[in-house]
Amino acid sequence: MDSLRPEIIDFHGVSMSHYFTDNWENVQNFQARPDDILTATYPKAGTTWVSYILDLLYFGQTAPERQATMPIYERVPFLEICRPGIDSGKDRADELPTSPRLIKTHFPVQFVPKSFWEQNCRIIYLARNAKDSLVSYYHFCRMNSSQPWPGEWSTFFHDFMEGKMVFGSWYDHVNGWWEKKQTYSNLHYMFYEDLIKDTGRELDKLCSFLGLSPSAEEKDRVTNGAQFDNMKKDNMANYSTVRIMDFKISPFMRKGKVGDWKTHFTVAQNEEFDDDYKKKMKDSTLQFQTEI
Ligand code: A3P
Repeated sequence: MDSLRPEIIDFHGVSMSHYFTDNWENVQNFQARPDDILTATYPKAGTTWVSYILDLLYFGQTAPERQATMPIYERVPFLEICRPGIDSGKDRADELPTSPRLIKTHFPVQFVPKSFWEQNCRIIYLARNAKDSLVSYYHFCRMNSSQPWPGEWSTFFHDFMEGKMVFGSWYDHVNGWWEKKQTYSNLHYMFYEDLIKDTGRELDKLCSFLGLSPSAEEKDRVTNGAQFDNMKKDNMANYSTVRIMDFKISPFMRKGKVGDWKTHFTVAQNEEFDDDYKKKMKDSTLQFQTEI
C-alpha cells in the first residue's frame, strides 16, 4: 500500500478525497461562459471517451495538432483536480484558449459551480451501469496511487454499495443528475452501453444536442478515431504520460466492454448486489443495461 494515497473524507455529506476538495473555493467561483461544454460523469463511466469525441468534433479538423501533441486531460481539464506538481484543473480550464472550452467534472450535481447553471451551459452526463463501473473503478484504484487504497475486491465491492468511494455513491450520482435533467433542459444524459452498442446513433443525438451538423465523412472520422483500440494506442489519450498510474497493475484503457463484471462478481455477490440495488433504485426511473 502506497503511503501517499489519500484517505476518504466526508465532504458536505459526500465521500471525497482532498485532491478534489482542496481547491473548493476557487472551483466554486469558477466563471463559466455560455459556450462552455461540461462533461459530467461518475468515475469510470467513459469520461475520456466522450471527452475525446467532443475534442474531435470541435477541433479535429481545425486544430489536428491538438490531438497529436496534447494529452486529453489538457484538452479537456478536470475542473476540481488539485494535486501538487500539476496545475489545478480550474486554472487549466481558465487558461483554455479554445471556444468552446471543453471541461470535465466528476462532481455530484449539487457540487457543480453555480456559474454553469447561470450561464445555461450545455452539459453532457454520461452514465454507466453500476456493476461495470464498480469493476472499472476497482482496477483504477489499484493502479492509480492518487486514489485511496481499494483493499481486497470484496471490501471494495461493499464500499461501493455503501457509497464509500471518491465522488460518493454511484446511486446518488446517477439519480441526482437524472433528476436535474427533468428541470434543466441543456443537459444531455447518455449511457455508456448505448455508446458501445451504436456509436453512430449516439453521436447523431449528441450532435443534435450540441447544434452541430457534421458531414457523414466527418462523423466516420470521429467514430473511427474514438474506437477503443485507437484510443488505447494513442499516447495522448491513454494516460500513459501520467506517472501516478501503474499500467503494470492495470492499464487505463483496460477492456472497454459491457458485462466485464461477470468475470469478477461471484454468484453470491451478484445476488447481494441485485437485492441492494433494487432497494436503492426503487424510486428511480433510470434503467441500465448490464449486458448487451
Ligand atoms: P474499463 O476499465 O471497463 O475498461 P473514464 O474515462 O471515465 O475513467 O472511464 C474509463 C473506462 O472507459 C474504462 O473502462 C475504459 O477502458 C473505458 N473506455 C475508454 N475509452 C473507451 C472507448 N473508446 N470505448 C469503450 N470504452 C472506453
